[in-house]
Amino acid sequence: MNGPNLNLLGRREPGIYGSKDFESYFEELKAQFPDDELYYFQSNHEGALLDYLHDIGFSPCGIIINAGAYTHTSIALADAISGIKAPVVEVHISNVYEREVFRHHSYIKPVCVHTIVGKGLDGYAEAIEYLKTSPEA
Ligand code: DQA
Repeated sequence: MNGPNLNLLGRREPGIYGSKDFESYFEELKAQFPDDELYYFQSNHEGALLDYLHDIGFSPCGIIINAGAYTHTSIALADAISGIKAPVVEVHISNVYEREVFRHHSYIKPVCVHTIVGKGLDGYAEAIEYLKTSPEA
């Protein structure tokens, strides 16, 4: 799952987020994990992200979320993640800890099973590996 402004990947601040769009990367991810069923959802709307978590969060799956700026603002997102059954891994493309101070705090980190930052798009593949192999997930 990707949150706000991540539909602009490839065009948005390429020096920070790279020049590949997520749709192309998602095709690569599917090829990298041919035995797994992967689904992609993106929204710029907080409520739509909540609705999607509610919809899938009680099915047997793992969830990877890059909540974008909602990471730093949304108690509602944290509540949704703690309210569902599925394990959630938090991913950030950039290293949020080396950026502005307001990006250092994540409301969702305490309710996620794992957090990956600063690995670029490879962080999503690492998150899938984590969900597949970690006993916590
Ligand atoms: C981001 C980091 C957030 O601080 C920012 O608001 C984003 C992207 C990342 O992937 O590095 O939109 O989540």
